[in-house]
Amino acid sequence: MRTHPHLAGRPDQVRVQRSRVEELDTDRRYDVIISGLPLTNFTPRQAETIMSRYLELLHPGGTLTYFAYLGTRRARNLLSTRAETRRHRAVEEVMTSYQRQYATGCRTVWANLPPARVWQLRCPTEPELKARCAGAAEAAR
Ligand SMILES: C[S@@+](CC[C@H](N)C(=O)[O-])C[C@H]1O[C@@H](n2cnc3c(N)ncnc32)[C@H](O)[C@@H]1O
Repeated sequence: MRTHPHLAGRPDQVRVQRSRVEELDTDRRYDVIISGLPLTNFTPRQAETIMSRYLELLHPGGTLTYFAYLGTRRARNLLSTRAETRRHRAVEEVMTSYQRQYATGCRTVWANLPPARVWQLRCPTEPELKARCAGAAEAAR
């Protein structure tokens, strides 16, 4: 950070956290989180822990943006063990569940090598959460 051309003169605006995101000890809440973590390399439990921590760290209405490379599962299926294929699929299920609940946008960047899918998830506001609970209660009747 000390040598970064845009950040060097702004130590009050930048804080480097030397911790895993899921172990980040803070009460701060953020409007925007941009994640470069390779989520499909983690275990399903780690991916779940990281995603839930991201959502906790957001203000209601705040957004999380992350990306995943396209075709990694297919490539892994060709090259890896069954256990590794199962792990990868299980992580994708975790991610799909978060996408179903919170995604507000998704686009594919074909110009990236390899192409990447960029997801935007939004932390619900209080009224939205209440409406969801009411909807779920109604559906359960
Ligand atoms: C693929 S690199 C991305 C680097 C950079 N953030 C970017 O987007 O270009 C992944 C980085 O995530 C870090 N990392 C791995 N597990 C992490 C975790 N649980 N919490 C926070 N960072 C983690 C690694 O140390 C590594 O620097």
